[in-house]
Amino acid sequence: MEYQINTVNRREFLKQSAKFAAASLFIGAGSQRLFGAPGPAMAKSPVPTLTLNNGVPMPVLGFGTNTLHGDTCVRCVSDAISAGYRLIDTAKVYGNEEFVGEAIRQGGVNRAELFITSKLWVDDSGYESTRKAFETSIGKLGLDYLDLYLIHRPRGDVKGSWKMMEELYREGRIKAIGVSNFEPHQLDALMEYATVKPAVNQIETHVFFQQHKAYEYLKQAEIQMEAWSPFAAARNGVFSNPTLAEIAKKHKKSIAQVCLRWHYQRGIVAIPRSSQKAHIIENLDIFDFGLDEADLKTIATLDLNITQFPEWE
Ligand SMILES: NC(=O)c1ccc[n+]([C@@H]2O[C@H](COP(=O)([O-])OP(=O)(O)OC[C@H]3O[C@@H](n4cnc5c(N)ncnc54)[C@H](OP(=O)(O)O)[C@@H]3O)[C@@H](O)[C@H]2O)c1
Repeated sequence: MEYQINTVNRREFLKQSAKFAAASLFIGAGSQRLFGAPGPAMAKSPVPTLTLNNGVPMPVLGFGTNTLHGDTCVRCVSDAISAGYRLIDTAKVYGNEEFVGEAIRQGGVNRAELFITSKLWVDDSGYESTRKAFETSIGKLGLDYLDLYLIHRPRGDVKGSWKMMEELYREGRIKAIGVSNFEPHQLDALMEYATVKPAVNQIETHVFFQQHKAYEYLKQAEIQMEAWSPFAAARNGVFSNPTLAEIAKKHKKSIAQVCLRWHYQRGIVAIPRSSQKAHIIENLDIFDFGLDEADLKTIATLDLNITQFPEWE
């Protein structure tokens, strides 16, 4: 049986991800062939897509850009696009949209193949200010539409912001709209008045904060879960964790790859950041192995069920 590299229905994707856990060999052939394919200068993306609740395809793995600025940001995002990333995650508050835009222009990949996310910051919440903030963001990015626009935090006039996000969505300026850092009760409140269901909720998720409650809620609500800080931003010794090191050794992979594979098998989109080309490439190479039931059970024991970013609470 061959791994489906093309767009899969989200429910099917979750089902498949569960199967990977039980049958790691299932995925071998297809993805290895893609990685091994001799190609033109621009690598074909090895990243499968899933389908959001509005039918829009989204890559299952993307590139995070928080803290990347200036030439470093342009270089890293260009390296990411060359390596095969198509989803790039930015935000107004990162202060790097113009550098991400520059890298997109340099990247040489058709706009239609990219999936660009930005986020509405708290200071811009509200009906009118949301349109203004959106126009500023896409102006800085040099784009005429966004693939995904998220309310960055559940603060301020969320209702007014969501109304304008829906308008921009209906105008075709945004392919999918969603939220970030929303807890289930905050999503419930939003869905009381929403006429467009959020497609995505981007929340802190990693092996030390596995977010089981949010996971179940989002799965049932058919809202795609996206993991920010999929490596806990290197906190809590994640890259020297002996439990993860053991699993990595068993699969001849790195701890970073084990973490990203774990997100993938849960059906969660992850957006790792790296400033090093070797890491950027390494983080894409997760589609040729599978974590088994024992690995998943062991990783489950690492959950501290608490944020690693208390300063942002
Ligand atoms: N919505 C929100 O509120 C929110 C909040 C936080 C983050 N985010 C998004 O999520 C993205 C990712 O989160 P993050 O930037 O906090 O951190 P992260 O991706 O969890 O971790 C980044 C750290 O991991 C290291 N790293 C990456 N690949 C590695 C590898 N293969 N081996 C060893 N070390 C590796 C990086 O160092 P090197 O540079 O040396 O590789 C860096 O120190 C952000 O960039 C942003 O786009 C969203």
